[in-house]
Amino acid sequence: MNLRLLPALLGLALLAGSAAAQEVIKIGEFASLTGGNASFGQESHKGTQLAIDELNAAGGVLGRKLQLITEDDQSAAGQAATAVQKLIAQDKVVALLGEVASSKSLEGAPIAQRNKIPMISPASTNPKVTETGDYIFRVCFIDPFQGTVMAKFALSKGWKKIALLTDVKQDYSVGLAEFFVKYFTANGGTIVRDQKYSSGDKDFRAQLTSVKAASPDAVFLPGYYGEVALIGKQARLLGLTAPFLGGDGWVGESLLPVAAGSLDGSFFSAHFSPDDTRPAVQDFVRRFRAKYKSEPDDMAALGYDSAMILADAIKRAGGTDSAKLRDAIAATKNHPGLTGVITLDAQRNAAKSAVILTIRNGAYKFQESVAP
Ligand code: PHE
Repeated sequence: MNLRLLPALLGLALLAGSAAAQEVIKIGEFASLTGGNASFGQESHKGTQLAIDELNAAGGVLGRKLQLITEDDQSAAGQAATAVQKLIAQDKVVALLGEVASSKSLEGAPIAQRNKIPMISPASTNPKVTETGDYIFRVCFIDPFQGTVMAKFALSKGWKKIALLTDVKQDYSVGLAEFFVKYFTANGGTIVRDQKYSSGDKDFRAQLTSVKAASPDAVFLPGYYGEVALIGKQARLLGLTAPFLGGDGWVGESLLPVAAGSLDGSFFSAHFSPDDTRPAVQDFVRRFRAKYKSEPDDMAALGYDSAMILADAIKRAGGTDSAKLRDAIAATKNHPGLTGVITLDAQRNAAKSAVILTIRNGAYKFQESVAP
């Protein structure tokens, strides 16, 4: 080798090194920014973006800036698959954050798995999501836990006769109903009616008339906020006065305004309460308000946690190599999240506390926290 070329070669190598250091890290996000579940995507996106902005303001990760590339799946069947395909093939993202709704995560997960691109769902609670494969993670609890929490709660209230109202279009709803029933009936409860509806329905009077005729102590309604609010309203108009019970899918911007008091006295399980007095939570609430002029909800907090866990894993992996990044995410331990301390188990799920909220005078009130 010509020694006179050495300094020039060294210079090139240095240049290449710093170019790699400068290169942005592309992270893909798929979310329902529009359509029936727009609240899920808009709120999770706000939390995720806030985390990315804060990381970049602090110098990025491994000296590289993060770029969040967001695709809207429009709350529509099939669109999550298209979004994930595009993010992987065209944008060449190193990891994926999404989705909130389980059915949407279940569309994206097999594509991420096939391409060995790590995916972290912030909020999908159906067990099947992470069962897709070893590249799929979540930072929230799962529905066997959530269903048990609400079944125990119903029994603790002395509610032994429950009617079910399930959204057959959502894996989340069907699964959560199943897990609730399993614990509830094994512990002395009876299901006195089992009624179904589909996402997007507007008229629930036939189902509610049947539910009312069964005189349940309470109605378990594991649905999403849009339909839940309409169901609450129509139930009261029909004279069905039993309390409703639900899960995290109740969380959505329009729930309280549309329900207009009709869900007072109801209870549902969730991931996060902005009333949590932990300083880290109160500080997040302040930063979120300053940026968006609104209150963060569960999806915002979970979105934030998912992005922070990914960034921490990239740091520990020393880069974005997909197998190393997968291993680093899998090794996540005692991450101090806004939604609790997050340790990922061998099934790539997080075992965390749930909060039970009630609705009183048209506002959420913290009821209790339930540890796994
Ligand atoms: N857990 C719900 C699902 O799996 C999504 C959700 C999470 C909705 C948090 C609201 C708040 O579909």
